[in-house]
Amino acid sequence: MRKIEVFDTTLRDGEQSPGVNLNLEEKLEIARQLARLGVNIIEAGFAASSKGDFESVQRIANEIRGVTVCSLSRSVKFDIEQSYEALKGADNPRIHVFLATSPIHMQHKLRMTPEQVLEQIDSAVRLAKGFVSDVEFSAEDGGRSDLDFLVKVAEVAAKAGATVLNIPDTVGYLTPSEYAHIFRYVRENAKGADKIKLSAHCHDDLGMATANTLAAIAAGIDQIEGTINGIGERAGNVAIEEVALALYTRPQFYQAATGLELAEIARTSRMVSKLTGMVVQPNKAIIGANAFAHESGIHQDGVLKEKSTYEIIRPEIVGMGDSKLVLGKLSGRHAFKDHLVSLGYELEGDALNTAFRKFKDLCDRKKYVTDEDILALLNDVETDT
Ligand code: KIV
Ligand code: ZN
Repeated sequence: MRKIEVFDTTLRDGEQSPGVNLNLEEKLEIARQLARLGVNIIEAGFAASSKGDFESVQRIANEIRGVTVCSLSRSVKFDIEQSYEALKGADNPRIHVFLATSPIHMQHKLRMTPEQVLEQIDSAVRLAKGFVSDVEFSAEDGGRSDLDFLVKVAEVAAKAGATVLNIPDTVGYLTPSEYAHIFRYVRENAKGADKIKLSAHCHDDLGMATANTLAAIAAGIDQIEGTINGIGERAGNVAIEEVALALYTRPQFYQAATGLELAEIARTSRMVSKLTGMVVQPNKAIIGANAFAHESGIHQDGVLKEKSTYEIIRPEIVGMGDSKLVLGKLSGRHAFKDHLVSLGYELEGDALNTAFRKFKDLCDRKKYVTDEDILALLNDVETDT
């Protein structure tokens, strides 16, 4: 199995979610949990962006051991120096510099020529490399950059000493085959690209972040970047838990794995949701409240006979407890009887039939049938019989 490194940017790109603002203690709490989850790199913040970010990068760098701690920097001296200052105490510090490489960004945002962009990449990576041995360069809006220009970017970054080249789909625009093609093209055509790790960083504007990240993995990249619960700018970043579970569930297909402690996923997800205030949608893959809940009678009957009929992942693998059979108007007698047993009642024959009929009547009147409702209904059955 090829090992895929996990670069978590919940505390940087994730915090860029509108309305999210984590304080220092909250960031530390998340960073400790990310270390327990086993991510390889924690992007702790953007040290030059504010005093608060500087302090959180510094505290995380000083306290979290055994992982690479990273700080984002624009490709300018001030940012790179600030990142280095904040990261000094880390076991393994990484400075992450970025500059946009797409025609749209170079022309309208940077107002720079492609040659100027290449020169700035060269000097920024060299400057960072003077401070730390591990330097990542990100070609912002790489997804909409010219392929041959990306090859030049890769060559310049590699020659200047970058250890990782990230090609982000900054605006979530690409399809999986396009994204995979970019990585193959750069790997095959850029001199020195074999000595540099390639990284994927996907945004979810078209809902394709997970598919795009997996396509990049299939194309041979070494590192994925994402956030817990997929939080991040606009529609968010790729959800790390989705990529990790896709690799775990389809090992033959991808021949690649993260080293994550999968059982820590649910705890990490709940913590990030609570501290950011970003509620996880109930039907969210892997960590949504409904991800392992079965509502229809046919599905419930199948799951009671053999879980794999309707579950491709066991919920305990990701720390989500056991699967849930939701009792509602679609539930069958099998699930109902089973639920009664969990409440301490073993009903058979007429008593079971009466209780089941009353339960179905109640489901037509009430949206949520609780255990208290069922216990009250069993009382009625006992008095009736
Ligand atoms: O989406 C993006 O391009 C980024 C870079 C700064 C890596 O977040
Ligand atoms: Zn991003």
